[in-house]
Amino acid sequence: MSVPHIIRELRGPEHIRTKLTGVPVLHNPAINKGLAFSHEERDLLRLTGVLPPAVMTIEQQVALAQEHLSAKATDLEKYIYLATLQDRNETLFYRLLVDNLAKLMPIVYTPTVGYACRQFSHIFRYVRGIWITPDDAPNIRKVLRNYPGHDIRLIVVTDNERILGLGDQGCGGMGIPVGKLALYVGGAGIHPSKTLPVSLDVGTNNETLLNDPLYMGYRKPRLTGQAYDDLIEAFVEAVAEVFPHAVVQWEDFKNRNAFHILDQYHKRLPCFNDDIQGTAAVALAGILASLRIVREPIADQRIMYVGAGAASGGIARLVRLAMIADGATEETVHRAQVLTDTHGVIHEGRELGEPHKREFALSLRDLAHYGIKPREGMRPEEVIAAFKPTVLIGATAVPGAFTQAMIQEMCRHTERPLIMPLSNPTSKCECTPADALEWSRGRAVVATGSPFVDVMHEGRRRIIGQANNVFIFPGVGLAAIVSEAKEITQEMFLVAARTLSEFVSHERLVEGAIYPDQSELREVSRRIATEVVIYASENHLGRRLTREDAAHIVKEVMWFPDYVPVAAME
Ligand code: NAI
Repeated sequence: MSVPHIIRELRGPEHIRTKLTGVPVLHNPAINKGLAFSHEERDLLRLTGVLPPAVMTIEQQVALAQEHLSAKATDLEKYIYLATLQDRNETLFYRLLVDNLAKLMPIVYTPTVGYACRQFSHIFRYVRGIWITPDDAPNIRKVLRNYPGHDIRLIVVTDNERILGLGDQGCGGMGIPVGKLALYVGGAGIHPSKTLPVSLDVGTNNETLLNDPLYMGYRKPRLTGQAYDDLIEAFVEAVAEVFPHAVVQWEDFKNRNAFHILDQYHKRLPCFNDDIQGTAAVALAGILASLRIVREPIADQRIMYVGAGAASGGIARLVRLAMIADGATEETVHRAQVLTDTHGVIHEGRELGEPHKREFALSLRDLAHYGIKPREGMRPEEVIAAFKPTVLIGATAVPGAFTQAMIQEMCRHTERPLIMPLSNPTSKCECTPADALEWSRGRAVVATGSPFVDVMHEGRRRIIGQANNVFIFPGVGLAAIVSEAKEITQEMFLVAARTLSEFVSHERLVEGAIYPDQSELREVSRRIATEVVIYASENHLGRRLTREDAAHIVKEVMWFPDYVPVAAME
């Protein structure tokens, strides 16, 4: 396929022709412009007199929408306002989002979307996406074909079981694919007509929801076991047939299903799990950016994880790949990472149920190498004293899991320790950046999972970078679409992590920030997408494109929300 053809296929339309006329035009969010319809368009679409006489620019409409938004008293009200705007005028919604990315992301996505998921049945206004229940299993193709979009390139799908840190939210989990796709559109310019949010509504075990007479979901206990696996299989088969060019992002599945589905399907269709792989890439990017400060190679680092769940397991896998790519041997790499959980160090002498823990378990020989004699109740600072980590990652969801003793012990061995308390939301963060800076006397480089304001430490401003997956998934998703990748590999996440780490400006690094500002998201996504498309091409994982063509296509297909001419069909 030629370069202009690829661009034409993936970018938004340059003009719209519609069969609709009169008020129904205003009720179709994909074509509605409200007061921005010109007099000529109003004439052709039989809208004259239906709208007040003034014709507005999109900039004026954005200003008005901002006025409405700031009149809303709570973030949830702001969320509802934005959702209704999206349902009324998609272009205006996305323009408002793109113009105010850093400000609106916490409303459209975490943390506000969490409240919206909980209240879903009560704040529901308009349909968006596709719901699939166990009763639909034999007919998933038919259900997918009911969606108005026919050229879907990106699906975000959840089974609602582990919505953020909120657990099983039943049908309310739909807020997550909807919000995440809004970030794909806003952050990477994937055209909304190419996106599809899906809720696999397999029931819920959330009693509050089941007891709510107004609950809108599938009112049965969760589907499990073989029947659950069969439904996922039927979904994958149906997607491959109905939307053969679609990339699938698995979202907010519980640990067991998350790893299992990813392992099962990553070679069958282009798919990834952001909670595992996006998290890993964003954390690795932070480590690589911090190494630009101290000018050391990744292969020389020792990394300690406090918390040994999905987040830590995913990060450790990608760090291993990065170290090996940097020339380290398997043995040194294995020894360079220690995972700990509530029972202490993860090692081979322990009963370890989960496969990812076994994968990173140190042998007693490895532990002896560091002089560690593992025992139940071993304090983290004792492990730090022996292992001498240069990087400390927290993924426990336990506030206070990083203590003064731990940070001070880090500083005894490392000039500029990297401290990453990644747990979300803010209330779960392992320690505050202010504490990490005070305990380390300003020597720590700190990045968090949740947003934190700048910290003044001994008269110097320190910016706290946020390890937000949004820096990774929009760019990787766009790249997979552009290159029509057969598979989305770990190496692509490594490329994404490196690109993100190199994007951080020197000025920000000097002030201690190892991530870009969120207002730079579109540029970050553009660069990541370009590099990943090039990687896919060079490694025969996607379309063959030159470096120049890859950069050109990515730039051209990124949709900037603006109105296009609308005309009536003859
Ligand atoms: P998980 O439940 O799978 O794992 C938690 C782990 O922490 C378990 O291994 C548990 O034994 C351990 N743990 C609990 N208390 C501990 C303590 N005091 N000391 C040592 N270990 C302890 O959870 P998952 O999915 O790994 O997420 C963990 C946290 O990471 C969550 O708060 C989540 O929000 C955050 N996270 C942040 C991301 C980001 O910043 N981009 C992305 C993904 C997760």
